[in-house]
Amino acid sequence: MRTQVGIVGAGPAGLVLAHLLRRQGIEAMVLESRSRSAIEATVRAGVLEQGTVDLLDALGLGGRMHREGAEHHGVVLRFDGRSFRLALSQLTGRTIMLYAQHEVLRDLVGAWLATGGALRFEAEAVALGGLEGERPTIRFRQAGREEELTCDYVAGCDGYHGVCRQAIPTALRRELVRVHPFAWFGILAEVPRLAPELIYALHERGFALASTRSEHLQRLYVQCDPGDRVEDWSDDRIWSELRARLSTRDGFSFRDGPIVQKDVIGMRSFVVEPMQCGRLFLAGDAAHIVPPTGAKGLNLAVADAWVLARALAERYAKGSEERLARYSETCLRRAWSAQRFSWRMTSLLHRFPEHDHFQRRLQLADLEEVARSHAAALSLAENYVGSPFEE
Ligand code: FAD
Ligand code: DHB
Repeated sequence: MRTQVGIVGAGPAGLVLAHLLRRQGIEAMVLESRSRSAIEATVRAGVLEQGTVDLLDALGLGGRMHREGAEHHGVVLRFDGRSFRLALSQLTGRTIMLYAQHEVLRDLVGAWLATGGALRFEAEAVALGGLEGERPTIRFRQAGREEELTCDYVAGCDGYHGVCRQAIPTALRRELVRVHPFAWFGILAEVPRLAPELIYALHERGFALASTRSEHLQRLYVQCDPGDRVEDWSDDRIWSELRARLSTRDGFSFRDGPIVQKDVIGMRSFVVEPMQCGRLFLAGDAAHIVPPTGAKGLNLAVADAWVLARALAERYAKGSEERLARYSETCLRRAWSAQRFSWRMTSLLHRFPEHDHFQRRLQLADLEEVARSHAAALSLAENYVGSPFEE
């Protein structure tokens, strides 16, 4: 079996790459270890940067997103019982789109298969070979049988737990990691929107985030202990924490209702350097993880796919490997900027077990500066909406 670019993983990175390559006349085959129904049902991200929205539009895949998603012009920071609106579009001229990651995946998979794109579900990559030569291979297992895909290049888009990163010899890669002392408890609840815009709240009891999926389905998060399990959180406990943490001096209130999904989301910051080795290129969570507070992970995955597609297009059209050689350097610039911002949002808005009263007052002073200073608000807003993808 042979293709030009073998892509491991049908997440946002792998599928966007596949579509971008096809637009350049480059053949790709995607291998995904899970089933189609599993990837289309997994609840994850919800915030798309304008760069991601523009790219989906350019691929002709933005129709449902514009009909069913919601464009937001600001987000609310809530602390000390007060609300401050970060006016994203007024400050930066850019907006964000609320549209669930699994809906993006449904659009990408549907369009890929409908136009005859090669994609194998329940096909798990087990080993990569020949990365230093001109014909690298991906060994994969499907329905109990092992097969081999031979390609010109391998795109490792298989997420944090994938196998591709491990194919880079340990002597040639450096992994930089921070594990955080808290996690998020996430729910989907069948209730009306709590507010017109997202609310990021810092409270004595910890962080809370009110996001949305539709008028009738809300995505809500509260900071929890990393050791917590879903069973530890009754519906009553969840609603009472949300009420406490989202409360304001002027009596903010909202309706509770059925909780239809619960999950615990661990928090990690991680980067592997470099993101390439021979003919293997890592993209998305396979190469970097950010804490979700900055809403950057999916957008970074799409940005990597964009950079890689451009570099491969140049290689196939002109024979030049110059862009490919710079792939890791180009992507790491954006990845570290997102890492810094995600860390800033996380440290600004979470309750840290080791913090004393002094540090909590500093945290509030920092938030107050964002509310008071145009420059501080602008910096936060610019990072939150994200920059256009590298030209
Ligand atoms: P993934 O989506 O993880 O896809 C990798 C794919 O590879 C998977 O489908 C996996 O099954 C497959 N795979 C793994 N191993 C193999 C193998 N050996 N062989 C074949 N296939 C394999 N990001 C944002 O930008 N905005 C947000 O608002 C946001 N919120 C988030 C909220 C939560 C609760 C969580 C958990 C994450 C959030 N993120 C957010 C992050 C975002 O979901 C990820 O960064 C994004 O999914 C990364 O995409 P990816 O394609 O790199 O990896
Ligand atoms: C959502 C997730 C995030 O991590 C975030 O910062 C904002 C919104 C969401 O799932 O809607």
